[in-house]
Amino acid sequence: MPKLGVNIDHAASLRQLRDGIEPEIASCAILCESAGCDSIVVHLRQDQRHIKESDVYLLKKVVKTKLNLEMSTDKRIVEVACRAKPHQATLVPERRNEVTTEGGLDVIANFKRVKDVVAQLKEEGIVVSLFIDPKKKQIDAARKIVDMIELHTGRYADARLAQRGKYLDELTKAVHYAKDLGLVVNAGHGLDYDNVEPVARIEGIEELNIGYSIICQAIFIGLGRAVKRMKDLIS
Ligand code: PXP
Repeated sequence: MPKLGVNIDHAASLRQLRDGIEPEIASCAILCESAGCDSIVVHLRQDQRHIKESDVYLLKKVVKTKLNLEMSTDKRIVEVACRAKPHQATLVPERRNEVTTEGGLDVIANFKRVKDVVAQLKEEGIVVSLFIDPKKKQIDAARKIVDMIELHTGRYADARLAQRGKYLDELTKAVHYAKDLGLVVNAGHGLDYDNVEPVARIEGIEELNIGYSIICQAIFIGLGRAVKRMKDLIS
C-alpha cells in the first residue's frame, strides 16, 4: 500500500486571497498528520503565489512526518531549500503563468543544471527526488543522478475514461521499469477520489502525493459543520 503525502499548497492559496493568516498553514499540516498522512508536501514557487518562504521554515519546525519541498532549480529557491533543509526536495519544472505543474521535468535537456542542484541539496543532507513523465528515457536520465523519482500521473488523471487504461498501462510499465533500475518510485498529480484506486494498486509505488482534490473534499466534508458552528454562535 503506498504512503500518502498531502500537498497543502491550496490551503495557502486560500490564505493568500486575503493576504492574511488563515487558514494557518502549520495547523493544516498538523491536522493532516494527525489524520494519518505520511508526509507534508509544499511547492515554493518563484512567485510565492501560495506557499511563502517563511512557511517553509515554519513547516520544517512543526512537521513530524516528512517535509517534501517541491521546487524548481532556480538559484534563489535552491538557496532557500539549503537554508530550510526539508527532509526531501522534489525538483519540478516551473513556468511562471502555468496554473499547475504541467509536465515532468525534462532531465535530459537540463541534465547539467539538475545534476548540480541535486549535488548541492544532497550536500545539505536533503533526499532528492525528480518529478518526471513516465517515459523510459527520462527514467534512465534520472537514474544517473538520483535514487528517487516521482512519476507525473497527470496524463492518466486528465484522460477521458476510454483512454485511461492506456495511460494506466504506461504508468504501470514506467513504475516497473524504474523499480528494476533500483529507484524508489513515487507518483502524483491530478489524483482524486474517483481515479486514485487503480494507481494505488500498482505494485511498487512508495508514495502518492495528492493535494487539490483533498483540499476540495475538505470543503464538502467540513462546510456543513462550519455553517452550523457560526449559526450556533450567532444565536
Ligand atoms: N506532485 C507534484 C510533483 C506536484 O507538483 C503536485 C502539484 O503541486 C502534486 C503532486 C499534487 O497534485 P494535485 O494538487 O493535482 O493533487
